[in-house]
Amino acid sequence: MSEPLVRFRAVNKSFGRAQVLRGIDFDVPAGECVGLAGLNGAGKTTLIKCLLDFCDLDSGAIEVHGVKHHRPQARARLAFLPERFTAPYFLTGREFIAMMLQLFGSRYEEERVRAMFAALDLEAAALEQPVRAYSKGMTQKLGLAACFLSGRDLYVLDEPMSGLDAKARVRAKDLLLKVKSDGRTVFLISHSLADIEEVCDRMIVPHLGTRAFLRCIEAHG
Ligand SMILES: Nc1ncnc2c1ncn2[C@@H]1O[C@H](COP(=O)(O)OP(=O)(O)O)[C@@H](O)[C@H]1O
Ligand SMILES: [Mg+2]
Repeated sequence: MSEPLVRFRAVNKSFGRAQVLRGIDFDVPAGECVGLAGLNGAGKTTLIKCLLDFCDLDSGAIEVHGVKHHRPQARARLAFLPERFTAPYFLTGREFIAMMLQLFGSRYEEERVRAMFAALDLEAAALEQPVRAYSKGMTQKLGLAACFLSGRDLYVLDEPMSGLDAKARVRAKDLLLKVKSDGRTVFLISHSLADIEEVCDRMIVPHLGTRAFLRCIEAHG
């Protein structure tokens, strides 16, 4: 097995008296696509927020590339798509992509950007439109395009298929497989087993909610 790129060790997190994460312990190996599954409210997004240091752990440790998660360096090689992605309303699609590529330290190349839009079934005309005029699906595609154009090693995607129609889901999955075949690492968070099954090498189910999740799978055959 390859080196772990992300390492969760005995991670605990509560909100008030509700323990959301209990003893979370797993690795995301480099070059693999790992799916984090679980019912709504199981704690998937909370785990990602802990990984990205958006909230504190109660106890435990997280490392990315061997670097402790709260150091900025731990985030230097990853691209993240949040669960409810929105772009700053005053930007056009092109301005948003250009801003993100600058943050990622990559150059804006019109041809690459257009090819990525086409790969995600997003019309090139959307480049000129303000993002406030985008539909939910277009917004999600824009967020995915920025991530996939980043050229980063690790992709942390929280419910990346949300808001996408059937055609766009297929396109997004194709891009995920391409990212993986390029040797990158994907950490895909989804409540949908089907999405995880199609693209991931392995699936993790956070402890809390596991039993309910398995009952749910059994119930739906
Ligand atoms: N900032 C917060 N304050 C209090 N409770 C929270 C907070 N964020 C999440 N929770 C609770 O933690 C649980 C897990 O939420 P979340 O991680 O968003 O689940 P998932 O992403 O698996 O659907 C839920 O019960 C949610 O209400
Ligand atoms: Mg979530």
